[in-house]
Amino acid sequence: MTRTFAVIGAGSMGSGIAAHMANAGHRVILLDQSEEIARTGVERQVAHGGFYDPAFAERITTGSIDADLPLLADAEWIVEAIVENLDAKRGLYAQIAPHRQPGALVTSNTSTIPLAALTEGLDEDFRAHFGITHFFNPPRLMRLVEVVGPAGTALASVLREELGKHVLPCRDTPGFIANRIGSFWMSAGASIALDRGLDIELADAAFAKPVGVPRTGIFGLFDYIGLQVVPGIWDSLLGALDDGDAFHRYEGLVTSPPLSWLLEQGYTGRTGASGFWRGRGEVLDPAALDYRPVRPVADPVTEVRGIARAIDVDSAGGRYVWEVFATTLAYCCQVAPEIADTVADIDAAMELGYSWKQGPFRMADEVGLDRLRERFTAEGRPIPPLLADAAVFYPAPGHALGTDGTVRELPAGPPSFAELTREAEVVFRNDGAVVHRLADGVGVFSMTTPMNSCTEDVIAALRGVGDLGLKALVIGNDQRTIFSAGANLPQLAEAAQSGDVAVARRVIRAGSDVMRALRRLPIPVVAAARGAALGGGAELLLHCDRVVAHTELRVGFPERLVGLIPAWNGSVRVLQLMVERGVDNPHQAAFDLIMAATPTDNAVEARNRGLLDARDVLLMNPDAVPERALALARELVDGYRAPVDPPLPLTRHALDSAWRGEDVAEADRDIAAGLAGVYAGEGEISVDELAAREGETGARLIIRPKNAARAAHMAAHRRPLKDS
Ligand code: NAI
Repeated sequence: MTRTFAVIGAGSMGSGIAAHMANAGHRVILLDQSEEIARTGVERQVAHGGFYDPAFAERITTGSIDADLPLLADAEWIVEAIVENLDAKRGLYAQIAPHRQPGALVTSNTSTIPLAALTEGLDEDFRAHFGITHFFNPPRLMRLVEVVGPAGTALASVLREELGKHVLPCRDTPGFIANRIGSFWMSAGASIALDRGLDIELADAAFAKPVGVPRTGIFGLFDYIGLQVVPGIWDSLLGALDDGDAFHRYEGLVTSPPLSWLLEQGYTGRTGASGFWRGRGEVLDPAALDYRPVRPVADPVTEVRGIARAIDVDSAGGRYVWEVFATTLAYCCQVAPEIADTVADIDAAMELGYSWKQGPFRMADEVGLDRLRERFTAEGRPIPPLLADAAVFYPAPGHALGTDGTVRELPAGPPSFAELTREAEVVFRNDGAVVHRLADGVGVFSMTTPMNSCTEDVIAALRGVGDLGLKALVIGNDQRTIFSAGANLPQLAEAAQSGDVAVARRVIRAGSDVMRALRRLPIPVVAAARGAALGGGAELLLHCDRVVAHTELRVGFPERLVGLIPAWNGSVRVLQLMVERGVDNPHQAAFDLIMAATPTDNAVEARNRGLLDARDVLLMNPDAVPERALALARELVDGYRAPVDPPLPLTRHALDSAWRGEDVAEADRDIAAGLAGVYAGEGEISVDELAAREGETGARLIIRPKNAARAAHMAAHRRPLKDS
């Protein structure tokens, strides 16, 4: 259902929220101090990928606060996202109150101002419809929305189902949950590193890969959010906290020489020319207040994975991780009873609002609470009551410790595959995949390989699914960031380097035969797709009858970068889709899509380019994918017939003309010529014959030395070889 919403303030947050509302199919009124500012906000979202489709910008009507407040009469929900200033926000509420339709909800995107302060002096009806919906930056991608007050609660289902967000009800405390903990942790992390004279690259590397909180490291995160916002948020937060709050210990950070120097110079991070980092090659030397080249980080902590190991590494980096972790966990335990109902709320805030791989309490469980208490005691750190009394923070699946120390059942969201298959029978299992059969005969095929890559075991498992007596099949699992990363690269690289066309042919044929067999199964097959479907993973996805996808799904063919064309029937299937879906000039469209080797940005783009169609289901909320995929598989059972693939046209156009120049790398020239050759000819060709051509071309390409070098490089380094 199309609704009308409004957003006031078209800065980075307001324009991002408006774009995401448009992504969900709604009409949006976006106002700022002038219409021009509002329009610039929309343009910025178009340029920076805030929209799934740039055409969705048309769903936004821009205007100015002075002239266009009457437009608000159409809006069910008005989001205020202007500057973080109490007087400005209150002044705006007074202006919009007369234009609000009866029952319309108004929410503020404030990061730090309490609800009580925002609503002081407002009339009863306005207050009853007011609340806070605190989105994170960028609004399209960050799943967390913290909500406070009546309007927050009333909007929970819109936020969840239509905008795909994880709704976290918060109390009206300063900075709510995520910023209270997140700013503390960033302050502690930066202050401790600066006090100890640690190199910035070491501090960031110590947290990035070993602990994953987050991948940028702490200084990298400061740069990412923009240093110019730090004084405002920090001052507002610190001003609202009691004098005894441990956050005050790090109050000096904002005015410390490195940060104030960066701000004075206008070095605001990614919003400026540089920040703590200047590109990847230089970092700030905090003592000299100047940049210097990045030094290679040799600290052993960078070699370990997981918090439990990292805190035991006896090195400057390991000790730094421990100090920041222990300090942050202690703070979380202290303030938890004030800010949250359960420890799971705090973990969710940090995982979804700050991109931590795991929240602080999950990390604590991983380390072991006894071990933590021993170390706190040995070092003379006070043990906060929540930590002192707990045996474990997550005693059982679906349960967590309340901040009052009692065990709580967590509110159930849409079921995961693990939950949906808990009672199901395992009808197949090998080292690459497991197949569950639910009571009604529908199967769930889940890859269990790293990155869900399609190893020989996965191919073998797929080969056997037709014999399991299933009524329908869903392919997917609970790994939300990746549907499948494609073929097993080391295996492919080995085949490539053998130089033996027969070996290459065998690897390719095994996958190609399985993909076509999957399509011809007499039962419906549905892909439950979240994250990325790449290469062989994209081929698997596109051979399913239907796709139920999270809208953030990325689909693409990186094969060229591995020295190959899609050869598990992918080049055939893409052409088939282009023809079936009436795409103009289907051969060139398929050729260009494959040669681009860049995945689509999202599922809407995949649909616009013909890879998905209107019968595929796109969902804003990734949690809803498993259940919807099963439902769709069930709907397709009655009267299902496997598709019969008609022959495909060949082309006489020189598809690869743009890839023939001397400046094109030799491997690319060969691959382009190879793919063009697959599609070349007169008249029509059967799918199986075209697949045979594709397989033979793929096998011959991959064993060429330049191409084999690409495969080997990608397998070893997970990034493309820069060749000539
Ligand atoms: P911004 O500075 O990028 O944009 C603010 C916009 O509001 C500007 O376009 C400005 O012209 C407009 N504006 C200023 N005063 C106004 C007034 N009196 N009336 C109407 N419009 C006015 O700010 P940003 O970053 O988008 O933040 C907006 C709100 O969202 C703030 O409350 C901030 O605390 C909050 N927030 C910011 C996050 C971030 O990462 N930037 C994250 C979450 C919340």
